[in-house]
Formats: sequence, structure tokens, C-alpha cells
Amino acid sequence: MLLAERFCKELGYPLVPREKLSLPALIDKYQVAGVIVAAPDKVFYYTGEEEFFFHPNMAAVRIKDIRSGKTDQMVKAMDLRPGDSVLDCTLGFGADAIVSAFVTGTSGTVLGLEVSPVIAALVRYGIKNYNFKSKLLSSTMRNITVINASHYEYLLQTAANSFDIVYFDPMFRQPKYKSSNMTPLRKLADLSPLNRDVLVEALRVARKRVVVKERRGSSEFARLGIDRIEGGKYAPVVYGVKNKDND
Ligand SMILES: C[S@@+](CC[C@H](N)C(=O)[O-])C[C@H]1O[C@@H](n2cnc3c(N)ncnc32)[C@H](O)[C@@H]1O
Repeated sequence: MLLAERFCKELGYPLVPREKLSLPALIDKYQVAGVIVAAPDKVFYYTGEEEFFFHPNMAAVRIKDIRSGKTDQMVKAMDLRPGDSVLDCTLGFGADAIVSAFVTGTSGTVLGLEVSPVIAALVRYGIKNYNFKSKLLSSTMRNITVINASHYEYLLQTAANSFDIVYFDPMFRQPKYKSSNMTPLRKLADLSPLNRDVLVEALRVARKRVVVKERRGSSEFARLGIDRIEGGKYAPVVYGVKNKDND
């Protein structure tokens, strides 16, 4: 089966011939919001203005830093250890999940939930097929399981204490225009804020703690009832922590 066919089958999208059309002309002809292009060297979603494709750039940099002994603030906020299980409720490009998978190692597990079917399909393909220079990183990434689901529904169906850490990195309310790696994602992603019902379920499902990433100074923490904030002293993003035993 052609790669493009596999994506169409998974997403329930029609498979159309390219007919030597440019991608904007293809979008115009079929009057669609975007197309998935499955080329041998790259699979991407094209919206007429931007391309979305999986690339684990940031994860590689962070893992290199961890290996050289630097502190990764997400890992610290999670108190993540080898063998832990992580439920990443907002998978997106998967950078945080890859870092988690590196720390938890082969004895741990990382399951990523992503509500956008296109993002989930591209990232699932990417983490199974992208090759880092380092074999260890490639095999680390292959340990992540991707599920296309909304986190609230998934949490509701999950037994208490199923994962050591439950993690959220919701789209920021104010886009960070300087951060270009999230710009294409905003077109495809669910931008809804978290709510307290989701946090209640997350705490039930977590064995150790729930961690929420937000911008420094965000009013989201107060709205969600999270008062323990961790992170670098001057970092633009910080982590809200809710420990299981505090609640
Ligand atoms: C800021 S991005 C996450 C980035 C990710 N942590 C990374 O390292 O690449 C947030 C992602 O969560 C997804 N999302 C938002 N609401 C969701 C929900 N209810 N269930 C699952 N995924 C959701 C968005 O579609 C988006 O892809």
C-alpha cells in the first residue's frame, strides 16, 4: 500500500492524484483546508501557507543537555525517574514526550494523547520512522505510543493510579510569535484551555503527580487551583505541580 494511501485510510481522507498541480492549485481544486503530501523523504501537511511536519529538533538539544548533566526543568518538575510511566495529554510535536521517554528509558513507558487527527498521524509516523544520528535516541523515540484522543475522554476511561506522571502542555493563550516552531501547530491544534474537571481526572489517574506547563505569570495556574510553581528563575515557561498526596 502506498504511504499516502495509509495516511488516507487512517484519517478517512480521500486519496487524489497530484496531476502535476502545484500544492496551492491542488487545495484550490478540491476546496480543502490542507493536503497531506507523502513524499519518500518527507511527509507533511500543507495548508496553502505553511507546512507541518514532524522534526524532533528541540528534543535532541534537550537530551544532549541532560546527558551533559544540565537540569531539564520539565524533568525536574515531574521528578521523572527511569522506569516511570508518563501520560502526556497534549502530545503536539512530541518534543516533551521524547525527552520523557529518554529519562524513563526502556523500563518506563510514555503514552501521548493528541486530539488533532492530522498531528497524531504525522507524529506517529515521525517517531516510528525518523532517524536520529544516535541509535539510542531513535530507539528512545520508538518507545512512545501515540493515541488520537481527547484527554478528558481518555482520562475518564482510565483506572486510578495508572500512570506515575500526567502531563499537560496546553497551547498558550497568547501565541509566542517569536517561537516559530509552534506557529504551524496553531493552525491544526486544539487551542482550548484546560479546566478543573480535567485536572480532577488527571489527579485520579496519576500515581505521583500532575504537571502543567504554562507561561510565567500566567493566570491559568490560579484559575486551575495550582499553587506550586517550579522552573528556572528567569525562564519564560514554568511548571505547575499538583502532588497526588497533597490532594
Ligand atoms: C503546546 S502543544 C504541545 C507541545 C508538546 N508538549 C511538544 O513538546 O511538542 C499542545 C497540543 O495539545 C493538543 N491538545 C489540545 N487539547 C487537547 C485535548 N483535549 N486532548 C488531547 N490533545 C489536546 C493540541 O492539539 C496541541 O497539539
